[in-house]
Amino acid sequence: MTEAMDAGVQDVDKGRLIYEGKAKKVYQGPQPDTYVVTYKDDATAFNGEKKGTIIGKGVVNNRISGILFRYLEDKGIPTHYLEALSDRETLVRALTIIPVEVVVRNRVAGSMAKRLGLPEGQVLPYPVVEFYYKNDALGDPLVTESHVTALGWASRAEVATLQTLALRIGELLTDFFAQRGVVLVDYKLEFGRDSSGNVRLGDEISPDTCRFWDAASGEKLDKDRFRRDLGGVEEAYAEILRRVEVTD
Ligand code: TMP
Ligand code: ASP
Repeated sequence: MTEAMDAGVQDVDKGRLIYEGKAKKVYQGPQPDTYVVTYKDDATAFNGEKKGTIIGKGVVNNRISGILFRYLEDKGIPTHYLEALSDRETLVRALTIIPVEVVVRNRVAGSMAKRLGLPEGQVLPYPVVEFYYKNDALGDPLVTESHVTALGWASRAEVATLQTLALRIGELLTDFFAQRGVVLVDYKLEFGRDSSGNVRLGDEISPDTCRFWDAASGEKLDKDRFRRDLGGVEEAYAEILRRVEVTD
């Protein structure tokens, strides 16, 4: 590889830092209306109370998320994804993020199990959609659809789009993972508006933002291994990448 090529791959032309989150940084991109996302190895849980590092997570999540976003785009889902730039960097369309996390649950787990006193793993007859207000200071509280519209975070039409897209994405991902021996238990999505005002899927899809259980053994292959100190965290992320890379 020439030095120029190497520079192109390793040191992407990034503009000013726009935002630094717990797991990613977002920079102004090389073209107007683009951002460069860089994935970090940092991991947090319980609204930042627990902190750690998952070695290689940034590289693994960048790759997993890239494959899943390309798959969803191929199936007609509008996303922010443009192209992978390097091991840890992806070029995306600039979105104005809607400050709502959309969680969809195929099975009871995590905070739903705790809040409602239900056993983890109970299969839901149809997916449950939840909205959380993205606000670290408040610990991302659960809100209803009418909070989202009445507080002006999204219009009624946009909320309908979020629900339709979130469920369609779930069908596509559930099928994708089922073919690879993985149960998609639940997942968190974020959406934003592009420069034309169209709603697109943003953020990432990875073991940080989904619960993945091995279909045969039930073993957890996601960030719950970090949240719950189960060990084998890096191995679980690597296993999800291995499964995702299987082509059908
Ligand atoms: P929960 O059961 O803790 O509410 O999580 C539901 C899903 O959302 C699970 O797949 C993990 C994901 N998630 C995030 O991506 N970010 C978060 O901050 C939280 C709390 C959950
Ligand atoms: N990422 C979130 C945090 O740091 C929570 C989580 O994923 O459990 O608080």
